[in-house]
Amino acid sequence: MKQIISEKTPNLKKIVAEKAVDDFVKDGMTVGLGTGSTAEYAIKRVGELVKNGFKLKCVATSQRTADLAESLGVRIYDVDEVDHIDVTIDGADEVDPQKQLIKGLGGALLREKIVAAASLAEVIIVDESKIVEKLGMKTPLPVEVIPYGHKKTAYALERQGCKATLRMKDGKPFITDAGNYIYDCKFEAIESPFFLESRIDVIPGVVENGLFLNTADVVLISHPDGTVTKRE
Ligand code: A5P
Repeated sequence: MKQIISEKTPNLKKIVAEKAVDDFVKDGMTVGLGTGSTAEYAIKRVGELVKNGFKLKCVATSQRTADLAESLGVRIYDVDEVDHIDVTIDGADEVDPQKQLIKGLGGALLREKIVAAASLAEVIIVDESKIVEKLGMKTPLPVEVIPYGHKKTAYALERQGCKATLRMKDGKPFITDAGNYIYDCKFEAIESPFFLESRIDVIPGVVENGLFLNTADVVLISHPDGTVTKRE
């Protein structure tokens, strides 16, 4: 009889998150902490570093992230309390061959984009399942909109060629950290992300979109065999 000794599937989110922290976070740095199930492992690793004596200034990309970090003894600074951020480690929903991203399925795209823009280096951590040929192939594009006139905003979004669905939670519209709504916009695929972004950003009521273009400096990708590859 064949005996299976160990066939544990590696935890791809944990592997890539811990590698990012170990490779990019140095003592004394100001660090941006991302949001989502992959970023959570990075936050936990940062918590270990702080426990071991690292002096880090950390900025959170969501209230959820701030709460987790603080529960681990990591002090969180407001983004305006720091001059710049040395490195931010964050997840993504899709990554294309040019390192362009869709983010925001976790609802934190606005703060994530502000923190990314203030960062000298943006390190994106994903497992292989997030890699796509074209953005929008698998996931919808989240767009944060103000509640006032949101149906009008959604109509204008759909004129860009998508199906826009108001994100719900517990039977009510999902509310972002900034008090806004999110429309998840499903395209067949996004052929020209820069053009689409320019069209979305001029729609009245749009606060921010989940296209993170020319934002990622490094993408770390974990694979089912437990290895991690890098795109830079
Ligand atoms: C949060 O708003 C998102 O941008 C996340 O970074 C993204 O959804 C990836 O999350 P997971 O690591 O949970 O897939």
